[in-house]
Amino acid sequence: MATVTLKGIKKIYDKDVLAVSDFDLEIADKEFVVLVGPSGCGKSTTLRMIAGLEEITEGELYIGDRLVNNVAPKDRDIAMVFQNYALYPHMTVYDNMAFSLKLRKMGKKEIDKTVRRAAEILDITEYLKRKPKALSGGQKQRVAIGRAIVREPQVFLMDEPLSNLDAKLRNQMRAEIIKLRQRIDTTFVYVTHDQTEAMTLGDRIVIMKDAFIQQTGTPHEVFNHPANLFVAGFIGTPQMNFFDGELKKDDASYSVRVGEAYIELPESKQRALREAAHEEKKITVGVRPEHIALLSEDDVEEGLSGTLLFSEMMGSSVHLHIKMGEQEVIIVRPTGTREGVGHVPYDVGANVSFLLPGTDCHLFDKETENNLIEFIAD
Ligand SMILES: Nc1ncnc2c1ncn2[C@@H]1O[C@H](COP(=O)(O)OP(=O)(O)OP(=O)(O)O)[C@@H](O)[C@H]1O
Ligand SMILES: [Mg+2]
Repeated sequence: MATVTLKGIKKIYDKDVLAVSDFDLEIADKEFVVLVGPSGCGKSTTLRMIAGLEEITEGELYIGDRLVNNVAPKDRDIAMVFQNYALYPHMTVYDNMAFSLKLRKMGKKEIDKTVRRAAEILDITEYLKRKPKALSGGQKQRVAIGRAIVREPQVFLMDEPLSNLDAKLRNQMRAEIIKLRQRIDTTFVYVTHDQTEAMTLGDRIVIMKDAFIQQTGTPHEVFNHPANLFVAGFIGTPQMNFFDGELKKDDASYSVRVGEAYIELPESKQRALREAAHEEKKITVGVRPEHIALLSEDDVEEGLSGTLLFSEMMGSSVHLHIKMGEQEVIIVRPTGTREGVGHVPYDVGANVSFLLPGTDCHLFDKETENNLIEFIAD
């Protein structure tokens, strides 16, 4: 059993740099958890505290049932893969992977079996005799992962393992990590600043900002119900659009006003707003680019409108950049369907009318920036 439990973890560097605060998380056995957030938010520090490379200022860290705050890294049964590979340059790939096993006094035959099995999993068998300098970045990263796999750790820690790779290789290695995860049954804690990586890899994602957790949830939960404005803007590309708005209440019925347009809210949102007893107030309305509906000329009056600044053809979709007052709104439309309907609907400078659908609106308090509707897992 390799659960990892963090209770009220805090890290202060040099007496006054708050790097991590109030960090509470229970990682299940064999769960893949991703810590994600902008530079400096405390991801690496958290991971390094789990690894034992950084002292914990406050709080409790358990691996399984064992309190490990004061347990040396080598006695924690974890393996860590870093961004910069950290391979031994003078050793072959084989020896790099065999090194920790030799230290453990494992027999030669067993070492050979273990190294070869890991090499096979990672598809690096043909490079076993090479030195690291004769490998590409992606190959080096595989060796670094291989070196960690052979130790069969209870917990696998990875700090931005793909950030040194170019975009194509990164996508490839991301798929490799998903496959790896299916082959080795271990608990993973993975750090990245890339939200796509977080969404595609994580069973659960922990989104951090300025030393604090903003939200913990499955990719589905954080995407569909961001806890606050920060998470809403951080998860999803292109970014969610934000509009100044107002929550209106008429008897027990809520609606939202953005500019001249009124947005009707579905009953589920109505109920949640009623339960939280919200009064009329200024809010920020968030709508993802793919959820905005384009309006035909006949329905213009119902919606908002702007002029098309430019459009980006992405292949399977097109991104329309629309200027509305001082604001730029992005709308994503699929370019084609099987029926073959596919064209950019507007010319640059054209007037574009669109609708913010009530079902897909996210409502945030203007002041606290929190979602007006609390997430209830179903
Ligand atoms: N050894 C250290 N001494 C003092 N402050 C540190 C030290 N290491 C990190 N910090 C500070 O702690 C905060 C969190 O750093 P951390 O490295 O955990 O961020 P991160 O989320 O991993 O960022 P990045 O995405 O850039 O790697 C930052 O403000 C950083 O400057
Ligand atoms: Mg870091």
